[in-house]
Amino acid sequence: MIYLNGEFIPLAEARVPVMDRGFLFGDGVYEVIPVYARRPFRLAEHLQRLERSLAGIRLANPHSVAEWTALIGKIIDSETSEDQQVYLQISRGADSKRNHAFPKTVVPTVFVMSEPLVTPPAEQSKLGIGAVSSADNRWHRCDLKTTSLLANCLLRQLAVEAGCAEPLLFRDGFLTEGAASNIFVVKDGVLLAPPKNHLMLPGVTYDVILELAAAHGLAYQVRDILEEEVRRADELWMTSSTKEVLPIVSLDGRPVGSGKPGPVFADMHGWYQQFKRAIKGN
Ligand code: PDD
Repeated sequence: MIYLNGEFIPLAEARVPVMDRGFLFGDGVYEVIPVYARRPFRLAEHLQRLERSLAGIRLANPHSVAEWTALIGKIIDSETSEDQQVYLQISRGADSKRNHAFPKTVVPTVFVMSEPLVTPPAEQSKLGIGAVSSADNRWHRCDLKTTSLLANCLLRQLAVEAGCAEPLLFRDGFLTEGAASNIFVVKDGVLLAPPKNHLMLPGVTYDVILELAAAHGLAYQVRDILEEEVRRADELWMTSSTKEVLPIVSLDGRPVGSGKPGPVFADMHGWYQQFKRAIKGN
């Protein structure tokens, strides 16, 4: 079962008009929310980011927090898996003509679905993943989680064609993030994170990582990170709601640090799993 514009229907029956601005212009926003033991993780934070993204594209939020919570709860109940990933999307809706400017009256298209949560296979955390560097050629509002993801898709595809999992993006000589993840650097035992600004998505997992670092006494700095610092890193990690935290062991075919997942990653991965077990109550 999925939710589309007020109805709970099977996915195969869901239809959106071709004049939907989400289809024509990528004019919409979205969220991906992990669900552990049937409970949405950091729902308040995801809904706050959704509110910010909607405000950023000048679209009124079609639902209150209570309505979103009920709606997402119903979709979770209709799935059999204990751990899930909820995807929700709001586009500006369907107009009668194609016109870049917003229509005067239009009803947004609201779509919510949930799937079993697919976290990375254990061997990826054990062996690590490869990354390639790319110029960050996206727009200047990467802090908004919009469905206009063509640049992200092209950048991810470049990485995949190089046999890697994620591109590391650099703008004006500084690290921004990955195609669908935030990036962390470890140097001399200190965790470095790029500051939240208009050039990267403020990740919910990013916050979890910094909270876990603080809770366990791992020194960290939030500051601009030069491309050279990334290339000389002892460890690199990528984080997202679905990937959690993964070690990057090669960049552009060269080893990162020892070329194996590092000791600071091992600590953080352990803390993350412990944290998840506490949430799940086991
Ligand atoms: N992507 N940066 C970008 C560009 C992202 O698309 C994502 C998440 C993140 C990490 O954010 P969070 O920790 O809140 O998931 C950073 C989701 C998972 C996606 O597009 O599927």
